[in-house]
Amino acid sequence: MVAAPEGTVLILGATGRLGRALARVYPGAALIGHELELTDEAAVRAAIAGHAPRLVFNCAAFTDVDACEDEPERAMAVNGHAPGTVAAACADAGATLVQISTDYVFAGDRNGYTEADPPDPVSTYGRSKALGEARVRSAGADWRIVRTSRLFGPGENDFASQMRTRSLVKPVVPVIADEWSRFTYLPELAARLPEVVAAPRGTYHLTNEGAVSWYGFARALIPNAAPVPAAQCRRRALRPRCSALLNTRLRPMRPWQEALSDYLRSEDEQVIR
Ligand SMILES: NC(=O)c1ccc[n+]([C@@H]2O[C@H](COP(=O)([O-])OP(=O)(O)OC[C@H]3O[C@@H](n4cnc5c(N)ncnc54)[C@H](OP(=O)(O)O)[C@@H]3O)[C@@H](O)[C@H]2O)c1
Repeated sequence: MVAAPEGTVLILGATGRLGRALARVYPGAALIGHELELTDEAAVRAAIAGHAPRLVFNCAAFTDVDACEDEPERAMAVNGHAPGTVAAACADAGATLVQISTDYVFAGDRNGYTEADPPDPVSTYGRSKALGEARVRSAGADWRIVRTSRLFGPGENDFASQMRTRSLVKPVVPVIADEWSRFTYLPELAARLPEVVAAPRGTYHLTNEGAVSWYGFARALIPNAAPVPAAQCRRRALRPRCSALLNTRLRPMRPWQEALSDYLRSEDEQVIR
């Protein structure tokens, strides 16, 4: 937990997965969910000016990758243009902005990407998030961009919990085996964000260490996962084949296997209670 800092900390997207995890790291933060529509420029500017924050985390996003293909205008508005509005309002308020981004800004045709690699997205979601990054960088605020990938955490409806549920009701659970990335344990990511705030302006990669396929991760969770090629699954958005985010600027996070052990322990404790 971070001791009450001078000035207000604002978390946008506070009802989402990362927003909730971050609220535990900053217990005194002002929490804002979708009651503030991020595409309403006047409302965003008024909310940020009203709170006069010293630090803003933008965890709000349109995160359904396939739905972004169906609603590209909404994706560009929420993920692309709204972060620019937030950043401009932060510049006016003298606040630091931490904008959360994604490995999907990369095409995924190599084994890993550093913070300095230029985005080359292959989906509407990726393009919208890359635009959001660009808008944040050019708005004149004190900014940090944190790219992360494949979030999982206790009590969430995420890939990990979906695998565990499916495993109970299906004899075999088909899982894509030819898309690799890095998984990221939400409580650990949230706990590392104050370090990013203290770091210089720039782009950072924070994930658990070690690339793994959806299947490899599922296999560590359930006994009845079966590997299938991505080409067999009908999904509207293209996904990167390998979008591992290489962290060359910050202390590394733990290997994903250690984080997964913590996750399983915490899920099992919830069941026992
Ligand atoms: N989940 C992942 O695996 C993953 C991987 C890489 C990067 N990321 C990035 O990490 C960040 C947090 O992701 P998450 O998984 O925590 O997201 P999430 O659970 O989907 O939460 C998104 C939040 O944004 C809010 N929101 C959506 N549209 C909005 C709008 N138009 N105006 C205002 N608020 C809006 C949502 O509110 P409602 O739910 O009420 O609409 C929710 O509070 C995002 O930037 C995402 O791109 C996520």
